[in-house]
Amino acid sequence: MTIIEAPSVGVWDESRIRGDFPILARTVREGRRLVYLDSAATSQKPRSVLDAERRYYETANAAVHRGAHQLAEEATEAYEGSRARIAAFVGARPDDVVFTRNATEGLNLVAYAFSNATAKSIHGAVLPDGGARFVLAPGDEIVVTEMEHHANLVPWQELCAKTGAVLRWIPITDEGRLDLASMDSILGPRTKVVSFTHQSNLLGTINDVGALSRAARAVGALVVLDACQSIPHQAVDIPSLDVDAVAWSGHKMLGPTGIGCLWLRPEVAEAMTPFITGGSMIETVTMAESTFAAPPTRFEAGVPMVAQAVGLAAACDYLDELGMAEIAAHEQRLTRRVLDGLARTTGVRVIGPTDSHSRGSAVSFVVEGIHPHDLGQVLDDRGVAVRVGHHCAWPTCRRMGVPATTRVSPYLYNDDSDIDAFLAALDDSRAFFGVA
Ligand code: ALA
Repeated sequence: MTIIEAPSVGVWDESRIRGDFPILARTVREGRRLVYLDSAATSQKPRSVLDAERRYYETANAAVHRGAHQLAEEATEAYEGSRARIAAFVGARPDDVVFTRNATEGLNLVAYAFSNATAKSIHGAVLPDGGARFVLAPGDEIVVTEMEHHANLVPWQELCAKTGAVLRWIPITDEGRLDLASMDSILGPRTKVVSFTHQSNLLGTINDVGALSRAARAVGALVVLDACQSIPHQAVDIPSLDVDAVAWSGHKMLGPTGIGCLWLRPEVAEAMTPFITGGSMIETVTMAESTFAAPPTRFEAGVPMVAQAVGLAAACDYLDELGMAEIAAHEQRLTRRVLDGLARTTGVRVIGPTDSHSRGSAVSFVVEGIHPHDLGQVLDDRGVAVRVGHHCAWPTCRRMGVPATTRVSPYLYNDDSDIDAFLAALDDSRAFFGVA
């Protein structure tokens, strides 16, 4: 049976693309056109994704990998077919992609592989072959960067608290780029993990994965990439990156909420202890103990998110139909328009790179004399949806010397008129607050 149908797009046609997203037809705040510029938080969904999920529930819904009936067989086919489709989107093999609830869960899964292996080794439990590399000793080091989302910071802080490992970080420059020159003094023989974001959700900075992974490899560390803000926006071929784990979310790339992916290098996955345990992920179970299935099943306890996987596969179809290179070029044009507009606006400071080189479409800024929360409210009154606050990157805000920012983050369904509406609303806000 076919669960996934091809989307309706094919050429870049802004009004047609916008028309594919039902929510963009609604108005907000007493009849204003919705100008949705908060896609770094979550993206809107095209009709093909909504239809795929609905069709799955209407025609094939059943618990996968169990049940002796036709629906269970078709649901399993839809689930595993979706895994293959999503894996192909990032150039990966299906078995190397684990479904998680979101990117946060994927990153926790890797951090827990360390704390679980460490705890088990203390009590003499058997670890999977190669599992010793996940056992930490006090004084071992975990390296992150100063531009991490809390999802790629707090799990490592917790791991350090549980094991006595030490957290270190690569600082950022005033421009909001990584200070790679400092890496040599931060990475060393005790570095066990280097975990970093591909693209900052706050600054928009795109990091040099090759430079970071080479430095991590040189000291034998596991390399973990948070690709939440990159995979939705640029073509990413995971096997060609020299990393061990890549986590990303479905809902930021036109897919449903409730599903994320964790790509694991096969030999790394084999060596990892499970995170959540229970049904489906086992090999054998007695009253005293259990053994675990091979990856990716080992990491997918319980009835998984089948409809969401089907929806995410449809999202991959939609993105591929438009072309990731075309999407990236479109976003870069919009980003340039945002940056140029902000550069023309008195009293605005962009928090992050001000040129479009090696930066994504999330643009954070502050306006002298207006608190970001107040600005967000006035923009919202004009139909412009943005995010304000510390964007789950509080230490990054501190480093940049601001308590909070306003962030605009255009995506493939935005056009010049959205950017111009935002810039006009920003001018109105400055007049409203008397700072124009
Ligand atoms: N991580 C999301 C953001 O940056 C929610 O807004």
